[in-house]
Amino acid sequence: MKLWGGRFLKNTASIVDEFNASISFDQKLYKHDIIGSIAHAKMLKHSNIITEEEGQKIIKGLQEILKDIEEGKIIFQTAYEDIHMNIEKFLTDRIGEVGKKLHTARSRNDQVAVDLRLYLKDEMDSISKKLKNLLNTFVLLSKEHISTIMPGYTHLQRAQPITLGYHMMAYFQMFKRDYLRLKDCYERVNVMPLGAGALAGTTYHTDLEFLKEELGFFHICENSLDAVSDRDFIIEFMSDMSLVMMHLSRFCEELIIWNSAEFNFIELDDAYSTGSSIMPQKKNPDVAELIRGKTGRIYGNLFNILTIMKALPLAYNKDMQEDKIPLFDTIETVSICIDIFNEMILTMKVNKDVMKKNTKEGFMNATDVADYLVKKEVAFRSAHEIVGKIVLYCIEASKNIEDLTLKELKGFSNVFTEDIFEVIKIENCIESKKSQGSPAKENVERMIIEGEKFLKKK
Ligand code: ARG
Repeated sequence: MKLWGGRFLKNTASIVDEFNASISFDQKLYKHDIIGSIAHAKMLKHSNIITEEEGQKIIKGLQEILKDIEEGKIIFQTAYEDIHMNIEKFLTDRIGEVGKKLHTARSRNDQVAVDLRLYLKDEMDSISKKLKNLLNTFVLLSKEHISTIMPGYTHLQRAQPITLGYHMMAYFQMFKRDYLRLKDCYERVNVMPLGAGALAGTTYHTDLEFLKEELGFFHICENSLDAVSDRDFIIEFMSDMSLVMMHLSRFCEELIIWNSAEFNFIELDDAYSTGSSIMPQKKNPDVAELIRGKTGRIYGNLFNILTIMKALPLAYNKDMQEDKIPLFDTIETVSICIDIFNEMILTMKVNKDVMKKNTKEGFMNATDVADYLVKKEVAFRSAHEIVGKIVLYCIEASKNIEDLTLKELKGFSNVFTEDIFEVIKIENCIESKKSQGSPAKENVERMIIEGEKFLKKK
């Protein structure tokens, strides 16, 4: 008979057993379910709702079940629907009647909510560590490439010269925000829903402070109805993960472009590339492409949960059982993507010469010429026009600006003097950018120091 079978005259159809069950996926919660149940049993004992001896028996039984699950000795059963009832069933099978007291002052609604929060807190810790690891890699690569000159782009057209170290620190900022967003989200995950019962609390004198301490939560849910209805914390986490993936996908896209023969800025390591089944010469950036592709899945998961929760009346509805599928998938996918991306960029080969050579073409010093004219009292708009004409002239003559003679330059404006040639050297175009966030070496050095300080913080 089902744990809830008392009111029923007939068994559920077997197709319904299958349909209703979540054990195939929510077994992932076994450890946190048991941790939650042990704390609950301790609280029942502490609040004199069950006796000391009963409490001990339940706790010991749960500990043994945990051990057996970890040793692969337990086979979960669809007939017991979900992880909560599977464990409760194993417990009563093992310790008898007293096992049936565990569910006093509790409902599966607050139980699943606490399990999810405990589980997610651990996973968030793990993802935070991975993000820190990645941030560390950006700092490392930035140091290595602080003087590696490369083209900076807008519209994927050569725009102004930058350095690869600077590019890395741009991603540092993006992932630092992701890290902080996760930390902020943690605040709202770190709230204990136990005591909510099914929706309206319990008649027992449950000591929720005790439970909160026991389970390491920071707050207790204020309102029981909200406690069991709320999945905002999952949605928030999954939208934070969507941003992580969006950032990864942008860098992956750049790596794919840089790795092409046309760009040849980098070469991804053999260990992070794959071949083609037909074209023997091919070495494809599949890993970067897959991360880019999986970003779609993570956005889809976010929309999945948002849509599950849309217009759900309070409190618990069975729809909410579906929350775990996208959540678990997001955790798994994002975790591996961060790790593999980290290794991929650590092992890639950077073709510094090619990067630098590419800054010599495409008039990337044109803005610097305009700024030069402005410093010589030409209005910026006029300077812009003059340089536009110089560029046009160069295109027709197949030359770079630095190839022109002073005489040619003077033909466009008589304020040009010999010093222009220093100004438009690519290195100087970078170093002369004095604004705080610019690629000038001293700025990137400061970014690195700030980055290292951030990484040292807890
Ligand atoms: N397996 C359920 C879930 O994951 C547990 C909560 C069930 N509660 C209920 N009243 N049916 O959502």
